[in-house]
Amino acid sequence: MDTMKPTQKPPQMADDIYTVSASKKEEIALRSKYTKAKFTSYDVEYIGLTIFSWVMALWFAWHMVAQVLMAKNIAFSVMGYDVLSNYDNFAMNYVWEGVILGDAVFPSKHTLYWKIAFLVFFVPLTYLEFRKTISTHKDAYRVAWHQLFKWNAFMNYIVIAASIYVCGSLYEWDYFYMWIALPFVHFTIWGFHDLFKYVLPIFVPGVYLNVINDNEETATYYEFMKVATTGAYGAGIDLGFNLYDSGLPTEDYTRSPFEAQQAKFHHAFEKLDLKKGMKVIDIGCGMGDWLYWLKNEKDCKVIGLNITMGHADVVEDRGIPCLRGSWQSFLAKVEAGDKEFIGRYCNQFDCVTCWDTIEHYVKGKDVWNVKVIKKTYRDLFKLAHSLLDKNSECGSFWSSTLHQSRRLETNPLKYRFWLEWGNCYIMNCMYNGMYPTDIPTGSVCKGLKERASPQFKLKYESDRIEDYRMTSIINPNHFGNFTVEVNLRFLYQTFVEFLAHPHAGIVWFNAMWRPECCWMWHVGGIKTEIAPDCPTKLLWQAFEFDRNVDSFADDAEEAEPKA
Ligand SMILES: C[S@@+](CC[C@H](N)C(=O)[O-])C[C@H]1O[C@@H](n2cnc3c(N)ncnc32)[C@H](O)[C@@H]1O
Repeated sequence: MDTMKPTQKPPQMADDIYTVSASKKEEIALRSKYTKAKFTSYDVEYIGLTIFSWVMALWFAWHMVAQVLMAKNIAFSVMGYDVLSNYDNFAMNYVWEGVILGDAVFPSKHTLYWKIAFLVFFVPLTYLEFRKTISTHKDAYRVAWHQLFKWNAFMNYIVIAASIYVCGSLYEWDYFYMWIALPFVHFTIWGFHDLFKYVLPIFVPGVYLNVINDNEETATYYEFMKVATTGAYGAGIDLGFNLYDSGLPTEDYTRSPFEAQQAKFHHAFEKLDLKKGMKVIDIGCGMGDWLYWLKNEKDCKVIGLNITMGHADVVEDRGIPCLRGSWQSFLAKVEAGDKEFIGRYCNQFDCVTCWDTIEHYVKGKDVWNVKVIKKTYRDLFKLAHSLLDKNSECGSFWSSTLHQSRRLETNPLKYRFWLEWGNCYIMNCMYNGMYPTDIPTGSVCKGLKERASPQFKLKYESDRIEDYRMTSIINPNHFGNFTVEVNLRFLYQTFVEFLAHPHAGIVWFNAMWRPECCWMWHVGGIKTEIAPDCPTKLLWQAFEFDRNVDSFADDAEEAEPKA
C-alpha cells in the first residue's frame, strides 16, 4: 500500500493548478473531472435548465413573430401546410388555454389558487434562469437546483409520495387535513428509518439501515446555508468562527467581524510557521476566506477542495481553483495510482489545512464503530501526507475541529438524556457527522492527535470553544445562530431544501422555533457565561510533518483496535 508515497518530487506540470481557467469549456470539464461521475446532477441541472430557458426564449420569439404576421394577414405556408393558423390553433387552444392558463393541467376544484401559485413560483424562476443563462453561466449565488436530481432527493420523493398516500387514505383525500398531517407522517417515516440507522448500530456496531447518502446530505445543507445567510463570505464571517482571545488577557469582543477573522488567520499563519509565497491546500475550504487572505495578504499559492458545489463555485469565482468532490474521492485516486492527479497535486504543498470540516468526516451512524473512526482519521492524515512537499521547510497540517469533551447522559429516565441525544440527532440531520473525542480516560474514539502519529507531531494546541460560541452570539449572520434574509433566492432554495433534504423539516423546526438551537447547546449555550457542562472543546492543532517517518505501510499491519 505504498502508492501513497511519492518518493521524489513528481515532474512539475507548470503552476497552472493555482489559476482558474478562463475558458468556459475547460471550466465545465474541470467541474466534472475530479468528481466521481463524469456526468453529474450538477451538469444535468445546468444543461437541463439552459435548454429549457432557450426553448422558452425561442418559442416566445416565434410566438411574437406569428402574432404579428397573423395580425397583418400575411400567409406563411410550407409545402402547402398552413403554418400560422395551425400554430394559432395549437398555441391558443392547447398551449395557452390548456397549459399556460392551466385548464388541462390543474385540478378543476381549486383552479384559480393553483394558477396563482404556479405563476408566483414559475414566473420569477424563469426570469432568473433567463438571466443566468443569458448574462452569465456561472452565478455564485445560484439556487442549487441540481440537488433536485440527486439520490437523496429521489429517496425523499418516494417518502413524500408515501406520506401523501397515507394522509390521503387517513383523511379520505380531504386536502385541508391531509396537508396538516403530511409533515408529521413524513417525519415519522424518516424517524423510523433513522431508528435503524442510529439505534441499531449502538447494539451491533457497523450494522445499520441507511438509504441516504450522508455526504450529499451535508452538501445539501451547506447549499441552503449559503443562500440563506447574509454576507456568507468576504466580510469577516465564514463557516468557522473568529478570534476574540476569549479568556486571555487580550480578550476583546469589540473587534469587528473582519478584525476578528484577521486575528484568527494571523494566529494560524504564525503557529503553522507559514511564510509568504508558500503553497497551501485547504480541505473543506467553504467559501474560501482563508485562501483568499493567504493569496492576497501573503502572496501564497492556494487551492481549495470541497464537496459542496455551491461553495466551490464561490471559491472559483474569487479566483481560487477548487477541487470538486470529497477528500475521500481524491485519496482514492492517490491510492489507485492516478498518475495525473499524483503528478499535479502530490508532494506539492507546504501546508494542508482543515478548518472546521473534520467534524463531517465520520458520520453519525459510525459513532460506535471504532474501526471506521480510526480509519477515517488515518486516511485524512494519509492524504495530507501525500499532498505535502517532503522538502518544505513548513510541512504542517492544521486542524480546527470540535472535539467531544465529556460523555453524554446515559440514563433514559432523565430529561437530560433526551435533550442531549435529541440535540445530537438534530445536529446529524443538519451537518451529518461526529466529533473526535478529547475525553481524558476510557474513550474508544480517540482524538485526532492519536491518529496523526507517527508521521505528524503535534506542535501547538489550544481550546478556542468560547471564541466559537461568542462568534455566534455576537454576529447575527453567523451560521450557528443565524437569522435569515428572506428574498427570492432564499424562498427557492427553501423549496429545493424541502424536496432534496429528507430532514429539512426538523432542521427548520430547530432553527426557527427553538430559542437555544442544537448548535448553541453543544458549543456551551446562549447565556452570558459558557455552560459548565459544555460537551465540546474546539481544538486548534498544528501538526508538523516528521521527516524521519514517511510511510503509512505499517498501518496495514496494525492489530484491530479494541473496543
Ligand atoms: C463548517 S464548513 C467550514 C468551511 C471553511 N473551512 C470555513 O472555515 O469557512 C465545512 C466544509 O467542509 C466541506 N466538507 C464536508 N465534508 C467534506 C468532505 N468529505 N470532503 C470535502 N469537503 C467536505 C463542506 O462542504 C463545507 O464547505
